[in-house]
Amino acid sequence: MINIAIFASGSGSNAENICRYFQNNEQIKIASIISNKKDAYVLKRAERFDIPFAFFSKTCFETTSHVIDYLKEKKIDFIVLAGFLLKVPDNILQAYPDMIINIHPALLPKFGGKGMYGDNVHRAVKEAGETESGITIHYVNENYDEGAVIFQAKCEVAQNDTSDSIAHKVHELEYKYFPKVIETVVKSQFQ
Ligand code: GAR
Repeated sequence: MINIAIFASGSGSNAENICRYFQNNEQIKIASIISNKKDAYVLKRAERFDIPFAFFSKTCFETTSHVIDYLKEKKIDFIVLAGFLLKVPDNILQAYPDMIINIHPALLPKFGGKGMYGDNVHRAVKEAGETESGITIHYVNENYDEGAVIFQAKCEVAQNDTSDSIAHKVHELEYKYFPKVIETVVKSQFQ
């Protein structure tokens, strides 16, 4: 069994969608959900799915080995960031080379970098007058949103779209593609 940990900071609708997708998978298991926010709704979702979950503060992530120790204890092979807003610390990057992927709610390299997450991204897309947006799934490295791109999908941004309606379109793309891309990447890394 290949064990995946999902890192998430917020609502976790992607995390839930991924958990549902892999629920009966015989090779890949969502073995843990980890958050840097104690009250993140994603942890409630983990509980409902009966998936082990853990909270580690920002300080804990950045200055201790607790997260790595936990990942080892849970025998985690691969990490998926789904709305995770902290930079992944070096000790985790080094322990999981090419084994950490992220989803970004826009077409990188546009609208990436520090502070570019969730609704901030969709507002920036709207304000820039873009005619399209989408999702980017990429490997994670030491810089925000700069790792090699694995997959992108696009949606139209019409003149009457709002940041909310863009968010809705982008979420639809995320739900449709992210689990499948995770499956493909994980299988290619472990076969
Ligand atoms: C998702 O749209 C994801 O792409 C984005 O946060 C949202 C989390 O939603 N991630 C980033 O912006 C990372 N820079 P969710 O908690 O409902 O899955």
